Amino acid sequence: MHAASRIIVGVTGSVAAYKAAELVRRLQARGAQVRVVMTEAAEAFVTPLTFQALSGHPVRGALLDPQGEAGMDHITLARWADAVVVAPASADFLARLRAGLADDLLSTLCLATRAPVYLAPAMNQVMWHHPATQDNVATLRGRGCRFIGPNDGGQACGEVGPGRMSEPAEIVTRILDAAGGALRGEHWVITAGPTREPLDPVRFLSNRSSGRMGFALAQAAAQSGAQVSLISGPVALDTPQGVRRHDVETAQQMLEAVMAVAPEAEVFIGCAAVADVRPARYQPVKLGKAALGESLPLARNPDILASVTALTQPPFTVGFAAETDDLEARARAKLRSKNLDMIAANLVGRPGLGFEADRNELLLLWSDGKEHLGPADKAALATTLIDRIVTHREAIRPSANTGI
Ligand code: C5P
Repeated sequence: MHAASRIIVGVTGSVAAYKAAELVRRLQARGAQVRVVMTEAAEAFVTPLTFQALSGHPVRGALLDPQGEAGMDHITLARWADAVVVAPASADFLARLRAGLADDLLSTLCLATRAPVYLAPAMNQVMWHHPATQDNVATLRGRGCRFIGPNDGGQACGEVGPGRMSEPAEIVTRILDAAGGALRGEHWVITAGPTREPLDPVRFLSNRSSGRMGFALAQAAAQSGAQVSLISGPVALDTPQGVRRHDVETAQQMLEAVMAVAPEAEVFIGCAAVADVRPARYQPVKLGKAALGESLPLARNPDILASVTALTQPPFTVGFAAETDDLEARARAKLRSKNLDMIAANLVGRPGLGFEADRNELLLLWSDGKEHLGPADKAALATTLIDRIVTHREAIRPSANTGI
């Protein structure tokens, strides 16, 4: 755990608010500095005095409280935090956060902070299952919020199902272990999935990439504490916890999304199967059979990896190569021609491995070495690959992680 962790505990209106007192106590026992912010509804369940006595600091609630703002204004407080944890997070609070409201201190802090925001929902199980809540949760996840729970079990209302707030001990482990993660403070940008290159409003060129490897990498990097931007083509996958997801369709859109964040990133992993070509001309109305002709004029797409390594101060850049033959030689040629730090090559076309599969086998290459990884499931492979990236980055660019 990071001894200097500074954590804002947000308490919203739920019967589980009493558990937040134990959360504050446990965070402090692990050495964290804690400030408590309550919504008005929370005060109907627990008094601010409880949290004031536990945290040793006045509890804040209103946004425009002159006394509070005179001490540490809301922006200063948002910057102060290493993490914000809202526990319990009511259905109403999730909806307000999703809508981007800033009408009390807690919702404003969640908008104004760059620190990770953890949400521990607590509500009746029918409310949790409601499509409105589920939609809010999916959107907030896609924006990088990290959900802890809810757990399954007996509820205060007498029903049984998901909606119980996670236990304080579990919440503390999640927050502090991520805060102490090896990649804390780093920004990793990862591309995943195929791109889709339209010919007309109904037809496109694409490929078989499922996005699973890139999503597994994003999840593993986030679990090690990195801030992860996942730039994904069209896939049928849920956003991993704590990952900021940006959906794109074409290679050109992927390039723009990548170039907007890559200059600030420590690591870039190009895992997407970017279409090499696109139909040369997009037709805004559906082409009839007769108009399709016998051949399709194509144009080359920009190379995203090469654009990243051409930056003045490129991040540590890792590419992927899918080959059907001559794996090592072809991958090594790409390592050089695209100026990559590492490349992960996989032989495609073997049943149960690679494209559209849960398992994979990789040959990892760098300027003067190589290593076979797997076969293993993509989650395990992702964890190993992240570990190798960190190790080789230190060997190849010893200053990369020290800020020198
Ligand atoms: O040259 P090839 O497409 O085989 O290289 C694969 C690697 O290059 C992958 O990491 C892929 O994400 C990346 N790539 C890219 N932009 C392209 C084509 C591929 O970044 N236009």
